[in-house]
Amino acid sequence: MTKLTVITPAGESRAVEADPSTSLMEAIRDAGIDGIVAECGGTAACATCHVFVDEAAQAALEPADEHEEGMLEFAAVEATAASRLSCQVRVADLPEGAVVTLPDTQL
Ligand code: FES
Repeated sequence: MTKLTVITPAGESRAVEADPSTSLMEAIRDAGIDGIVAECGGTAACATCHVFVDEAAQAALEPADEHEEGMLEFAAVEATAASRLSCQVRVADLPEGAVVTLPDTQL
């Protein structure tokens, strides 16, 4: 399991033990944390699984590909350099202790 901290839209900090075989989107949902909609079910087609990842995670992850970058332009909250589609991030690729912040809204 990978230990993550998820900051909810309400600003609460939640400790999550994430299964490395899942996507970050699935891990957040499996932890029962609200704030991910994931309308498309994880096919990078909706941008309602938008998250912001901390600098350690940004450094560890492969950069978003062109399709992910394009979809992030449709996110309800403006994307930044820290933005990712959580369905496209594998927990296994995140560093232990990564901090993931959910945007105020996904819609
Ligand atoms: S769940 Fe739709 S883009 Fe991630």
